[in-house]
Amino acid sequence: SGPVRVLGIDTSCDDTGVGVVELLPDGRVQLLSNRVWSQTVHARYGGVMPELASREHVERIDEILQDALQEAGLTVTDLDAVAATSGPGLVGALLVGLMYGKGLAQALNVPFHAAHHLEGHIFAAASEAELRAPYLALVVSGGHTHLFDVPRDGEYRLVGATMDDAAGEAFDKIARLAGLGYPGGPAISEAAMRGDPNAVPFKEPLQGQKAFDFSFSGLKTAALLAHRGGARAEDLAASFQRAAVSFLVKTTVRAAQANERRTVVVSGGVAANGALREAFRATGLNVVFPGKGLNTDNGAMIALAGAAAIRAGRPASALNGSATAYAP
Ligand code: KG4
Ligand code: ZN
Repeated sequence: SGPVRVLGIDTSCDDTGVGVVELLPDGRVQLLSNRVWSQTVHARYGGVMPELASREHVERIDEILQDALQEAGLTVTDLDAVAATSGPGLVGALLVGLMYGKGLAQALNVPFHAAHHLEGHIFAAASEAELRAPYLALVVSGGHTHLFDVPRDGEYRLVGATMDDAAGEAFDKIARLAGLGYPGGPAISEAAMRGDPNAVPFKEPLQGQKAFDFSFSGLKTAALLAHRGGARAEDLAASFQRAAVSFLVKTTVRAAQANERRTVVVSGGVAANGALREAFRATGLNVVFPGKGLNTDNGAMIALAGAAAIRAGRPASALNGSATAYAP
């Protein structure tokens, strides 16, 4: 039999993502396309407005699907399976992609795979390397800071999570505080290049913990005090970035040692951060990051998760949960 073409859809938040991958008979997976429409209507509110997000998905999804098919050089009838994010996320936003994907699969008479958004983030790294258990996976995005141990393919053990803000949320909030704009991650990383990482002393969160949890509220408070004390935005950015990166890397390395894992997947929007990548590469662990354009929310990562489920003969994702299943 020939290749299996899998369409992936993610509309969990404010990005309309559609991508296509190809599962080859030898088990390898190839990325054929990845198209994302990033909604800009939310910028003026300083946060995502759920109702507006859903409406934009409804308006854009046809066009993004056509773009993704065109980029892949396929027509809709070439598709052999459809995968879409079923959660977690904004329910109205999720429903657009989920129902669209289900309807499409039914019309084409091909299998439908519901995917967990975090399994999608993890499988974004499958664009770069064959992803086979066992490994450890750190998902760092605007909504999640979750550390999973993956002893067997399709089995996820949550070993640590944030106790307050997600890592990306902390980048966004501190960027807003320092007047660096939105989204905060890229803004902080850019400003940090012109700042002194020693200018603002940040205390490492949860020092001495035996667990593998995360917390960013302390860094946020320290940033607010430094800002009020007159710290330069660039110095604040550089100092915060160094503290956050060090905390994320140290905690993940401890978890890798405790679980005897050599391979670590680091994914989600914050995995695009250059300083974070550099620090992880210096650990000596086998660290796998998603390819370009696959860190932040997208449809190709959902297609990759779907392809892995098909390859394993699984009917649906092991993380196919409700919208709140893994909320911190
Ligand atoms: O994965 P994602 O698109 O959405 C969620 O599922 O949450 O992640 C978005 C988050 C935002 O908080 C954004 O500020 C952060 O990822 N981000 C970054 C960088 N690029 C995006 N954080 C740090 N450095 C970056 N270069
Ligand atoms: Zn995400």
